[in-house]
Amino acid sequence: MTHTDPKLAQKRAVAKSALDYVEDGMILGVGTGSTVNCLIELLPQVRLKGAVASSKVTEDKLRALGIEIFDLNAVGELDLYIDGADEIDAQGNMIKGGGGALTREKIVAAASKQFVCMVDDSKVVDKLGRFPVAVEVLPQARSYVARELVKLGGDPVYRENFVTDYGHVILDTYELDIKNPSDFEQVLNNIVGVVCNGIFASQSAHIMLKASDGGVEVVKF
Ligand code: 5RP
Repeated sequence: MTHTDPKLAQKRAVAKSALDYVEDGMILGVGTGSTVNCLIELLPQVRLKGAVASSKVTEDKLRALGIEIFDLNAVGELDLYIDGADEIDAQGNMIKGGGGALTREKIVAAASKQFVCMVDDSKVVDKLGRFPVAVEVLPQARSYVARELVKLGGDPVYRENFVTDYGHVILDTYELDIKNPSDFEQVLNNIVGVVCNGIFASQSAHIMLKASDGGVEVVKF
């Protein structure tokens, strides 16, 4: 039995809009996830110089289309990074990491001048935190970090049978009261053993492309 993603039409529409920001000759930073997969399908329409991928999964999909993959260290600053998100607020702060690629995504986003975020309207929130915050952790520190997250009011859940591209584990953390995303991102980063967390306030979006039944809205932050 095949299951069709009910949001597929919106994901395709928002990916088509994102293509407007991509220019011939670019090395494009490419995110990870089902919305990005819709964008990847469209990339043969552009004559990219190549891409920097935010995960092995994305890298494989790009290579399969004959798009050259560059090492971020070899290319310097990128003009554009395009990715999806799990939640986004009115300031462009996001929760990402549902697909577990948060660390590599945050690195490529940090090295890019502009972050274009593709979402559907169900992902736009007044306050971040309904979606669990993925906390990427060195395996040896998993239990310690989980206790620290509980002290912060969180309910960490170990993501079973999942290892990140960097060989780390993830604690999906529910119930966090994220009053100030920027401060909270740093609080999580300061726990010993944490590699990265899914709050993207330091690397917030510059542009949100928001799909709904009515079309795609462009929001600049
Ligand atoms: C992966 C991510 C994705 O961008 C996020 O999970 C959104 O994915 P999708 O487009 O499948 O809803 O952060 O780590």
